[in-house]
Amino acid sequence: MQDASPDIRTQVWEWYHRLLLSPDIERIRKLLVRYDLFKGSLPVPRDIVECGVLKGAGSLYWLKLLHSYAPGGAKRVMGFDAFCGSRRIIAGDYVAASRIPDFTSASYLDTYAGTKSA
Ligand SMILES: C[S@@+](CC[C@H](N)C(=O)[O-])C[C@H]1O[C@@H](n2cnc3c(N)ncnc32)[C@H](O)[C@@H]1O
Repeated sequence: MQDASPDIRTQVWEWYHRLLLSPDIERIRKLLVRYDLFKGSLPVPRDIVECGVLKGAGSLYWLKLLHSYAPGGAKRVMGFDAFCGSRRIIAGDYVAASRIPDFTSASYLDTYAGTKSA
């Protein structure tokens, strides 16, 4: 942020205050949930993979968390997207997910619905 232009810094300051002064809870919750997931991932010597990045904002958030809490570490952020729309469940996803213990089609749909609203 120190490298950003004064205009951008002023805008970010404005957006930040608008977010906090707004009635929004969903955006804040999304950031907090990701923060919790991120903190849980820190002791795990693996990368962070976001499946379905859309515009990439979430991926940049993971990177900012990494920069803040584990700068210079080996953990990387990888993002994937089929750019096929957000409601379509691809048959291959179901097959891959069905290898997870306790997986049911209902739990997959619940998880998918939860991801969409997260
Ligand atoms: C709700 S958006 C994700 C938003 C992003 N994760 C965020 O939080 O800002 C869902 C994205 O998942 C992608 N997607 C849906 N099914 C997918 C699949 N089977 N493989 C890869 N990407 C997929 C869609 O193209 C869409 O861009």
